[in-house]
Amino acid sequence: MSLAAPIGIFDSGVGGLSVLRAIRQQHPSENLIYLADQAHVPYGPRGLRQVQAFSEGITRYLLGQGAKLIVIACNTASAAALHHLRATFPDVPFVGMEPAVKPAAEHTNSGVVGVLATPTTFEGELYASVVERFAQDVTVLQDTCAGLVGQIEQGKLDGPEARRILQGALEPMLESRLDTVVLGCTHYPFVIPLIQDIVGPQVNVIDPSPAIARQVGRLLEKHTLQNPARSIGVTRYLTSGDPVNFQELIKKLLEQDASAQMLSWQDDLELVPQIS
Ligand code: DGL
Repeated sequence: MSLAAPIGIFDSGVGGLSVLRAIRQQHPSENLIYLADQAHVPYGPRGLRQVQAFSEGITRYLLGQGAKLIVIACNTASAAALHHLRATFPDVPFVGMEPAVKPAAEHTNSGVVGVLATPTTFEGELYASVVERFAQDVTVLQDTCAGLVGQIEQGKLDGPEARRILQGALEPMLESRLDTVVLGCTHYPFVIPLIQDIVGPQVNVIDPSPAIARQVGRLLEKHTLQNPARSIGVTRYLTSGDPVNFQELIKKLLEQDASAQMLSWQDDLELVPQIS
């Protein structure tokens, strides 16, 4: 395995860019390849089985591109597929996501935390297990913020619809004296200013991306996979959706120019490059 091989990162759409941003900051010399499955976004309402199949197809594609480590930058895909992918590709290091209930339970003063995540994430064993292990003594409130991923995919980060959805989720939680919000979907860090505006500065909003990037560093070290290059690594962007639209979103969300390549699904099982 070449140490210059890329780290493969994927999500249903642009949400995983919040994780990519943290990885780029902490591991500047690594080459990255980001795959957004925008043909299938949102994953949240699709259910565990279908999201698992997409995640396996994406992982095969990223490994075919030489990825040395895979980051599932999506709570929904982690809930649906992390165990399956580790079992299917036992030699590949994976970093998955789970809602940051543990740090929330450790730091809450009011004893009430709110988790914002998709229906499929709430359905998965991973979520049940973190709540059982770490949140026995706190009240955990949940909301799926239906429609919010779609708003973020359209770049509407502070529009009236995003505000309506978040107010619907957060205002009842505030009435229950919540003091900590866990972002259990990688799309949501892009609406932190709106969330903070609704809950006020005294409520702690937990973005897990820096912790995920630290875990990437630990795994690179453990498997001796760090790229020793001194230059800034290259990032390639791929989407199963519209590459021009994806490029515009990258510009808006990461404030950088990028060109994206389009992939197509064959029978929803295999990804192939789209030849234009
Ligand atoms: N960004 C994703 C997550 O972390 C998926 C959202 C979706 O596609 O519904 O759960």
